[in-house]
Amino acid sequence: MSAASESILEVANLRATIGGQQVVEDVSFSVPATGITAVLGRNGVGKTSTLRAILGLISRRGQVTLAGERIDGLSTHRIVQRGVGYVPEDREVFAGLTVAENLALAERQRNPRREFVAELFPDLVARRNQAAGTLSGGQQQMVSVARALLNDNRILLVDEPTKGLAPKIVTEVADALAEAARTVPILLVEQNLEVVRRLAGPAIVISGGRVVHTGTAAGILDDPDLTRRLLGVHAEVTA
Ligand SMILES: Nc1ncnc2c1ncn2[C@@H]1O[C@H](COP(=O)(O)OP(=O)(O)OP(=O)(O)O)[C@@H](O)[C@H]1O
Ligand SMILES: [Mg+2]
Repeated sequence: MSAASESILEVANLRATIGGQQVVEDVSFSVPATGITAVLGRNGVGKTSTLRAILGLISRRGQVTLAGERIDGLSTHRIVQRGVGYVPEDREVFAGLTVAENLALAERQRNPRREFVAELFPDLVARRNQAAGTLSGGQQQMVSVARALLNDNRILLVDEPTKGLAPKIVTEVADALAEAARTVPILLVEQNLEVVRRLAGPAIVISGGRVVHTGTAAGILDDPDLTRRLLGVHAEVTA
């Protein structure tokens, strides 16, 4: 198997329920060991639920294999220990704690990658004693990404990191993800298609809790029919 086709995460026939309602119907895909893989789809199709099912945060069935080992029977705690980093959709910073405290709480290993994170997010260093709840949305997003990057994860699951951010901050977050992806593969849920086009190689599209299309991000975004049908947008082709 060539390095390019090696996968770090394999998801097969994943199904998940929330409160008895099936939110992930039958999801299968694989994530290459390098670069950024996009998860696309309209609102409410099950993108976040797919990430939460991989992490064992919601009740799930099916096979999830990380670096050749099954993790679908493990608790979330063990899955995180195995090296699955999560940057949730709502950021989930501890509002009453400082930036430094938020980051310290995330450290799992003896030698956290503090220098790498400080270089990537100089603004957070400057604001290390500020309460995280008083940060801007973009700055909170930086804290959320920084937490995941402190540890040597095998993969990051990143859910809509640019949602609700001003264009300039969107670019900053995208820059940080591009840099991070040089050290760790990323599975990225993202609705900003310019960001997807810039960052992602492979992409899957989810609809109704199922994977309905697999290909490259560019191939999907360059197909007006696909983007209209599956993403509900008229993608501006402005490379
Ligand atoms: N806690 C919950 N209780 C009940 N239903 C839920 C819950 N969380 C999600 N759902 C439902 O599960 C389905 C999938 O939701 P999910 O959050 O995975 O979608 P999504 O693709 O991430 O959407 P978005 O793009 O809006 O973030 C939706 O119909 C949603 O209403
Ligand atoms: Mg979501």
